[in-house]
Amino acid sequence: MDPPEEGQTLVSEEEKAGLKIKMITLQRELDVFELQNIAKARKWVKKKKVSAVDVLNEAFLKKLHQHMFDDVWKWAGKFRQSEKNIGVPWVRVAREVKVLCDDAQFWVEHETFPPEEIALRFKHRLVSIHCFPNGNGRHARMMADVLMEQVFGLAVFSWRAGDLISATEERKMYIAALRAADRGDIGPLLDFA
Ligand SMILES: Nc1ncnc2c1ncn2[C@@H]1O[C@H](COP(=O)(O)OP(=O)(O)O)[C@@H](O)[C@H]1O
Ligand SMILES: [Mg+2]
Repeated sequence: MDPPEEGQTLVSEEEKAGLKIKMITLQRELDVFELQNIAKARKWVKKKKVSAVDVLNEAFLKKLHQHMFDDVWKWAGKFRQSEKNIGVPWVRVAREVKVLCDDAQFWVEHETFPPEEIALRFKHRLVSIHCFPNGNGRHARMMADVLMEQVFGLAVFSWRAGDLISATEERKMYIAALRAADRGDIGPLLDFA
């Protein structure tokens, strides 16, 4: 497979062996299968009636990742067990997810920030933890959409209707916004989404 784009998780050889569809040899073929799988997950999640407590927990985060990637990857829905170029040491993933989910439940309950900002702060911290071997960006964006639509009853983010997976100008802006959020400035990400 092609080398990954900047800002992408590097998938280890062991994780690549978890590919369920052996006929996939090209990145763009993989992209298509993943897109189909993710479309199914979106349908699944839209049918659900959810509250903040239902979705802001480890079990739901795993379930959503599983629905997004289980046609393609054996490790769909399972937290990673190796170190990555992005994210916390893998042994800390579950703990950090718990802290984040508790924080976010508090924000929702106490209306600490406006809804958009809660969704994006959650999304940004989630992707910074990097729970899964791959698909963290798409998973975190879908979580932000679930919070916006299902929990807050608002319109989902456009994410500029852009293709954030390949190396477009949009993706560059998006990664720059994420880096600003890493430095504690959530503004560019709010503007972008
Ligand atoms: N410096 C960074 N800080 C936080 N998140 C980042 C950073 N660089 C990249 N990311 C996030 O990581 C994602 C890539 O992780 P990956 O697991 O490959 O997700 P996907 O396969 O869905 O693109 C990017 O889409 C972005 O959301
Ligand atoms: Mg990736």
